[in-house]
Amino acid sequence: MNIRFLSLSIVFFAVALSGSISLYGSSILNSSSISSRVLDMDSSTLARAKDALREAFGTLYPESAHANGKRVAIEIRASETQVEIIEGMKTTVWSYNGSIPGPEIRLQLGDTLVATFVNDLPQPTTIHWHGVRLPNDMDGVPVLTQDPVQPGERFVYEFTPKDAGTFWFHPHVRSSEQLERGLYGTLVVEDEDALLFDRDEVLVLDDWLLDEDAQVYDQFVTQHDLMHDGRWGNVLTMNGKLDERLSVAPGERLRLRLVNVSNARIYTPLILGLDAEVIAVDGLPTEKPFPLGVFEMAPGNRIDLDVHIPREGYQDSYVLQDIFTAQAHRLLSMEVTASAVSSEKTGRVSQLRELDWSAARDLSPDMVFVLNAQSTSQGIQWMINNEVSPEITPHHITAGDFTIFRYQNDSYRLHPMHLHGQFFKVLSRNGVAVDEPFFRDTVLVHGQEIVDIALVPLDRGDWAQHCHISEHADSGMMSQVTVD
Ligand code: C2O
Ligand code: CU
Repeated sequence: MNIRFLSLSIVFFAVALSGSISLYGSSILNSSSISSRVLDMDSSTLARAKDALREAFGTLYPESAHANGKRVAIEIRASETQVEIIEGMKTTVWSYNGSIPGPEIRLQLGDTLVATFVNDLPQPTTIHWHGVRLPNDMDGVPVLTQDPVQPGERFVYEFTPKDAGTFWFHPHVRSSEQLERGLYGTLVVEDEDALLFDRDEVLVLDDWLLDEDAQVYDQFVTQHDLMHDGRWGNVLTMNGKLDERLSVAPGERLRLRLVNVSNARIYTPLILGLDAEVIAVDGLPTEKPFPLGVFEMAPGNRIDLDVHIPREGYQDSYVLQDIFTAQAHRLLSMEVTASAVSSEKTGRVSQLRELDWSAARDLSPDMVFVLNAQSTSQGIQWMINNEVSPEITPHHITAGDFTIFRYQNDSYRLHPMHLHGQFFKVLSRNGVAVDEPFFRDTVLVHGQEIVDIALVPLDRGDWAQHCHISEHADSGMMSQVTVD
């Protein structure tokens, strides 16, 4: 099945529905149409352009949160447990604190999280706090930032998130197995925007590859997974359930926080018939809201939705579905049952300031990352710049410098590239400017596509950069970006 082809046709369909012309994920042009940009600026003009961009970029989000909040202590225990995903059947999973998904941790901006992690698994592991800007030694990447936590051992993660938003946590050891077995939880950092909503719900999207006994199929990182876009499952769950329902009220304003924790599956969420806008991507607020149905959610991505249930003339129910593949999947039904809410919540959520990125598009990339695979006697290995993790050379960039990365996908597979510790802006796809009104920490790079991103690294340290398809990452597609 050609997923790429299907996804494009579906996205066009979605665009027609939503009346928007933006494609937040797809590229429609062939990479052969790109000529590499020639830099036609002398070095002082170049330096000035970069300075202006750095300054503009640097004011977008705060360098540090005000650490004046509470200390929130929690224990997180990873262990084997059993849950019911398919009715009447017990599935053995690995989970945090015995549930799928694991705990939903809620903090106020400025609070400090003190999470005592206990490893009751038969394997070493770590916790990575995806998307959270935190001290490098709390980032949970084995060897790079800490030793793996051995079975029976514990590790205390303590940090004050710098940003409000929707984040999640998961192991960074053998993710292809540990994430697939169910190890994930969410971290929500709230700010005053909480007052604008009647309700705030986290919606965790996962897909599982289960056998006929409803057990997690225990061959991980197969040659099939590696030749394709990783491990795609046969059972989709929302918050660990096949048929998740939400009872909503007429007039209600909801903030829905969608998190894709799948090993490899990509979703394009859509709700027909309802006013639903995306107000945050990968944690940070957008510059302006945009309609649901055009954003391709790759593993790691989050989107926050602002949803209004009409006070009058509403449907009995609304369905949140995934239209990424040819067959649409139902992910959640929202049933209008409760009695109407009394207060009409309006008010605009926080937005990031809009910037003019056109100057950035005339600059050449500071670093090019070529994504490709090689076939060896051990099987397929995925690579970044012909290097196979853990045999990698660190890439160095400088804190406070305006920096452009290019992801050049020489393969035909999908690679959602994730950079730890930084937010970035997508500048172009296949040489064509894109204007996404938001930052990301993960960008889906399609087969044969070239994606340029811009960032101003603010947080020093050794950060991982990898494909968030766990099978690709675990077979080599992981590198290191050090911010000096
Ligand atoms: Cu959620 Cu290194 O990743
Ligand atoms: Cu990949």
